[in-house]
Amino acid sequence: MKAHIAVLPGDGIGPEVTAEAVRALRALEKRHGHIFTLTELPFGGAAIDLTGNPLPEPTLEACRNADAVLLGAIGGPKWSAPEAKVRPEQGLLELRRALRVYANLRPVKVHPALLGASSLKSEVLQGTDLIFVRELTGGIYFGEKRREADCATDVCTYTVAEIERIVRAAARLAQKRRRKLVSIDKANVLETSRLWRQVTSRVMREEFPEVALEHMLVDSAAMHLIRRPRDFDVLVTENMFGDILTDEASMLAGSLGLLPSASLGEGTRGLYEPIHGSAPDIAGRGIANPYGMLLSAALLLRHSLGLTAEAAALEAAVSDAIGAGALTPDVAGATGAVSTREAAEAVLARL
Ligand code: IPM
Ligand code: MN
Repeated sequence: MKAHIAVLPGDGIGPEVTAEAVRALRALEKRHGHIFTLTELPFGGAAIDLTGNPLPEPTLEACRNADAVLLGAIGGPKWSAPEAKVRPEQGLLELRRALRVYANLRPVKVHPALLGASSLKSEVLQGTDLIFVRELTGGIYFGEKRREADCATDVCTYTVAEIERIVRAAARLAQKRRRKLVSIDKANVLETSRLWRQVTSRVMREEFPEVALEHMLVDSAAMHLIRRPRDFDVLVTENMFGDILTDEASMLAGSLGLLPSASLGEGTRGLYEPIHGSAPDIAGRGIANPYGMLLSAALLLRHSLGLTAEAAALEAAVSDAIGAGALTPDVAGATGAVSTREAAEAVLARL
């Protein structure tokens, strides 16, 4: 098949892990006889340095015209002073909104070889296989922001339609999995959460009666996630709760560097990025974990290009490389860590 992929390496370790995902896509392209047109574009802090804008118009235009967007990571100390007028993160939010990718899927699976990499006990982690569906284009991230001399305001708004569509996306996933949906909110305090809970209950009752629904308060969910992670299947939540809980959930897998994400809207075009940030502390050292990014590329193949076999092959290759001990320092512990390139090579060798 022919596909256009916009590639946005971004900042920090973004370009390092993106380069490995591009190599994997090139390898699959060759092996399976596809034609992938990959266009690299400035984004984030790198784009601010170049143009003053974290999401330059030509970058956005290319993303709009692509079948999928592959994104590394953005941000860094250079652009993050509280006084800064433009921030890399504004570009990311604008991109998500412009592409209307409201459903952010963040799967969390525990690889048996990484049970020891987590700070949590193996017997708690064993068999964990869950997926977060994070609402990505609404809530407090996108509400009005005001700053006065001695006060600041961030508004959180959700509409019924926004809640309905994300709950449907999560429920459709749950139908294909273990038919268990946990909806996370803070309905004991927030009005948006009370609406969230009412709409979720109605949609599930009317449209997905075969999926078991449980409501959970976000503070309680944060606790249960690390107490009994195996019990969860699909979790749906609003934008900021999803951001926070998925960093927490990455410790179930063993490292923030392992988790991929797919952001989807109504069509097949999607935005794919690992959930980790630009990690300025390790940037340029060649030790970043490339697996979250490689697994994001696999999600791209599956969800935007419909290349199920290629996606599965890439996921299996990553899993085998992990099993063979090709581990970067974040998961290797004290013993024999490999570099970003070596970890990615281990994957390519198994493709
Ligand atoms: C994420 C990141 C972003 C978010 C930041 C970089 C704006 O933390 O994708 O999880 O908060 O959504
Ligand atoms: Mn985050």
